[in-house]
Amino acid sequence: MKTILPAEALCRLGVVVKDYKSSIRSFSEFFGINRWEIRRLDERRLSNATVGGKPAGHSFISAIGSAKGVALELVEPVSGDTVFAEFLQRRGEGMHHLTTNISSPENFQEARAELQKIGVGVAQSGTIDGVMDYHLLDTRQLLAGPLIEVICPHTDSVSRSPEPDEIVNFDESVTSWNRLPIEKTYHVCIVTKHRRDEVRGALEKLLGIDQWFDFGNESGVNAMDTTYYGRACKSAFNLSLGRRNTLCIEVVEMRYGESLYQEMLEQQGEGLHHMMTTICSMEKFAEVRPWLESKKIPVIQDGRVEDFCYYCYLDTRSKLAGITVEVLAPASKEWLKGREDTGAILIGPA
Ligand SMILES: [Fe+2]
Repeated sequence: MKTILPAEALCRLGVVVKDYKSSIRSFSEFFGINRWEIRRLDERRLSNATVGGKPAGHSFISAIGSAKGVALELVEPVSGDTVFAEFLQRRGEGMHHLTTNISSPENFQEARAELQKIGVGVAQSGTIDGVMDYHLLDTRQLLAGPLIEVICPHTDSVSRSPEPDEIVNFDESVTSWNRLPIEKTYHVCIVTKHRRDEVRGALEKLLGIDQWFDFGNESGVNAMDTTYYGRACKSAFNLSLGRRNTLCIEVVEMRYGESLYQEMLEQQGEGLHHMMTTICSMEKFAEVRPWLESKKIPVIQDGRVEDFCYYCYLDTRSKLAGITVEVLAPASKEWLKGREDTGAILIGPA
């Protein structure tokens, strides 16, 4: 089976926000990002603009920043019927797309014919400064939420970063705010409605994500002390975690019970739910937890998988534009002994 667009990496995670100015500060505090490049992509800089396959002028503000293996693009829609504005209106702020490929325009045209065969068109595109195209592929149905972005510089000599209109810096008083250690984007998670296998197959065919492990999590069976908003709960869900290079995607489907996944399915539908950015010791997490709570970032779901790990979800939704953050703490130093393949997928390249 030929992969249509073998993913190079998780180049960036695209997040739709209402107001980039207030968001960049919160994201800088949480992830330690000290520099943002702001681009106002309007008729001055954007040509060949399309939405839904038809010419359609549009504009948005892009804020790109990264630190410690977390690379983000915050997007504030400004004008036009963009996929960003539609997302914001339909489900609010949150994770929207994954930038996985930087390709030549020729290679992308070849892939485009293959994409058409599986029903994937271009949801939105444009040319920036006349030298670089962006294409947001309409993988919303295929991948249960996220769009995939491909960037195409017209020639090899084109810089992959067009000139920013503005640079915003944050000093250490902001970037050292978070006491929870942030390491990298270990994975992002898609919550689906009973179609884990289908989404997993699509990720394999589209992006070449081909290293997988499956896990069934069930309260009282292999997940102990499970809680939801601070009270004991019973739930079961199945997950598949797949990796290709630095791109790691978890696909979750609910079986029964109460959980943050079920809550999202009911309130917003399928889509990107959380990102995991921390693996730390139980002692470290116990030390940081009261501080997180004092900052109104409580644990809203957690549990233990015996002799493997403790996992929890932090309510970072109001701080981080709708995003939930997952933290994992190994049960012991030997947690990956006999689970080397799982460990390679979970942790990924250094
Ligand atoms: Fe996860």
